[in-house]
Amino acid sequence: MKDKDLINLLNQMTLDEKIGQMVQVAGDIFLEDTIDVSTGPLKNLGLSNEMLYNVGSILNVMGAERVKKVQDEYLSKSRLKIPLLFMDDVINGYKIAFPIPIAQGCSWNVETIKEMTKISAMESNIAGANVNFSPMVDLSRDARWGRVMESIEGEDPYLGQVYAKAMVEAYQGKDLSELGNIASCVKHIAAYGAVEAGRDYNTVDMSEREFRQYYLPSYKAAIESGAEMIMTSFNIVNGIPATINKWLIQDIIRNELNFKGIVISDYGAIEETIAHGASKDEKQAALNAINAGVDIEMMSSMYSNNLKELCLENKEIEEKVNESVLRILRLKNKLGLFENPYGNIDKQKEDIYIMNKDNLERAKKLTQETFVMLKNENNILPLDTNKKIALIGPYADNSAITGSWSMFSDRTKNKTILDMFKERMTNEKLLYSKGTEILREEKINEILRADGLPLIHVENEKEKEELSIKEAFETAKEAEIIILLLGEHYRQSGEACSRSNISLPENQIKLINELHRLNKPMIMILFNGRPLQLNNVADKFDGILEVWFPGTTGARAITEVLFGDVNPSGKLTMSFPQNAGQCPIYYNHYNTGRPLLRDFRYMSRYQDIPTESFYSFGYGLSYCNFKYENLKLDKNKMTEEDIITVTIDVENQSAYEGYEVIQLYIQDLFGSVVRPVKELKGFKKEFFKPFEKRQIKFEIDIEMLKFWNQDLEYIAEEGDFKVYVGGNSVNVLEETFKLNR
Ligand code: BGC
Repeated sequence: MKDKDLINLLNQMTLDEKIGQMVQVAGDIFLEDTIDVSTGPLKNLGLSNEMLYNVGSILNVMGAERVKKVQDEYLSKSRLKIPLLFMDDVINGYKIAFPIPIAQGCSWNVETIKEMTKISAMESNIAGANVNFSPMVDLSRDARWGRVMESIEGEDPYLGQVYAKAMVEAYQGKDLSELGNIASCVKHIAAYGAVEAGRDYNTVDMSEREFRQYYLPSYKAAIESGAEMIMTSFNIVNGIPATINKWLIQDIIRNELNFKGIVISDYGAIEETIAHGASKDEKQAALNAINAGVDIEMMSSMYSNNLKELCLENKEIEEKVNESVLRILRLKNKLGLFENPYGNIDKQKEDIYIMNKDNLERAKKLTQETFVMLKNENNILPLDTNKKIALIGPYADNSAITGSWSMFSDRTKNKTILDMFKERMTNEKLLYSKGTEILREEKINEILRADGLPLIHVENEKEKEELSIKEAFETAKEAEIIILLLGEHYRQSGEACSRSNISLPENQIKLINELHRLNKPMIMILFNGRPLQLNNVADKFDGILEVWFPGTTGARAITEVLFGDVNPSGKLTMSFPQNAGQCPIYYNHYNTGRPLLRDFRYMSRYQDIPTESFYSFGYGLSYCNFKYENLKLDKNKMTEEDIITVTIDVENQSAYEGYEVIQLYIQDLFGSVVRPVKELKGFKKEFFKPFEKRQIKFEIDIEMLKFWNQDLEYIAEEGDFKVYVGGNSVNVLEETFKLNR
């Protein structure tokens, strides 16, 4: 349709029909035999039956047949036959579950991330998705916050910008109506990752400079890459809930970043402005949200119940409604829904494409790039397959490794590590014992209670645990290498999963301590959705491999890495703290006036733990051994027009081939406002043959030196800079240069 046709359509719509477009509900209601919203699951929403056939979009209904049925049912009763939009949370894949986003970020491979995104987009598009609530680019510095598992960027805004662009482009392609392309909704705007004390939904209060410097850039990159939608966050931003924050949505997102797309609230977030104490009642919540510029309300009924009255009271509100509806119609048009309301739904393609062999094979390769080897003493890895190996722990024979956002994934294809080892090893060489559960009853019940699910009871739990650990001990006694497969429960990270203790569960620590008494080489494979406290267990292990929640192909991917078919190459995107007391912790922090340069009491430090992280940002080992030398700048002075070429020699001093992520950091030594001790400004993931030595090049330009100064101008200031290059954020070589303007 042409834009003028869309305007014509808008002019034909009644006020109810317009407001309906601005309401999003879960679509299951249309699949029921009798549709009655006064008693059904949507009762709490307070939608009338008539209004239901005016709603503009549907949340999380997928599958070609289901989506078609909902669309048909809706269109059969809707007057103007404006097709529904289907929006979904395909966070780390649809039927194929890819590694959780924090893991994907650890690949430091933009092509890898694009490929995963493309496969997700194609799978979900043929199953009916028009819009995906991804990427999530909330800067995350606090491992207590459960949603760090969803953050593609971890603690770094540069990575965030690169990844946001890659993902938005991969989701949307060039033409949204084409097969395999879906609209991208970047979230959660804004600064959701900065919730106080890492407690989900909590307060966010920060200086505008901090916001612009660290939190805004990734959202901005997504918007500039053409993201069709943004989602507001649950938290307040400097005193006002994001969802009704005019400064945020109007001044920054619409006016400054020139965002023309749709703003959707998060789930029930308009209504929550009442609990925040920022709207006095439902009507005011609706008014505040429309005034701030929210186009679609997700899963609460402030708009459906109040917007009409507000429009009748004030013509200006109706103007705003018109603008919102036009944006929604435009997106439906770009997706080609007016020509074909079913979009690219295709039952046949669903059968052929989804979970097909090629994609599973690709998924496995991509997954392998997300693992981070944290420790490898005495080259315990890759495994010596002549040795007798014991697999111990609750994740050894467990296929629930897809993370908390994988509700659509097809788990029938998930294998366990034990299955995989059995394919490669004889019975005499392979031993197994579970050792302990992931969590004890009390902890599982905390999760179940929060979800309103029936609690469990384990008879004689203590005795059973003792016995089980003893059995594992006896099994491990026979082995030459012990592999412990441990971690969090998948419902311990994700939304509403904040934790004040980020250590492994006590029962698992007990298992570790028992087995450690055997004095045999031990390797830990870690399944988790956040950086964990490892300072209480790491020294018991010779090898540690962080695999996060690796998804459908995880077990095979891990096994191949352990056996050395594939060399791990991931690097951390979030610092692992010594313990939760250190959170938030991030590598790109400011110096205090008393940095800990000497051992003296009155320094910025802790009495009981080191100041630095346990594993730093950018860290990750390989079976190769990389040596860095000869860092050189082609000049030590630059002006605004100049480019400095940085070179460094990187040598693979091993007989393995593998990838290394070479990282470039810059520090502005003195500024009108303080600057971080270092900031990532570039990286390259390069392949090295055995014993290969190569020169790697970076370029530094003026853009990389800019920041938000005292007067909130984005500029570079004259003076001295340091350049650091290395394989992580700590072990780096350094050089200096000067900027003269
Ligand atoms: C989450 C969003 C998600 C939405 C829809 C909310 O609870 O915060 O990230 O997209 O639900 O499922």
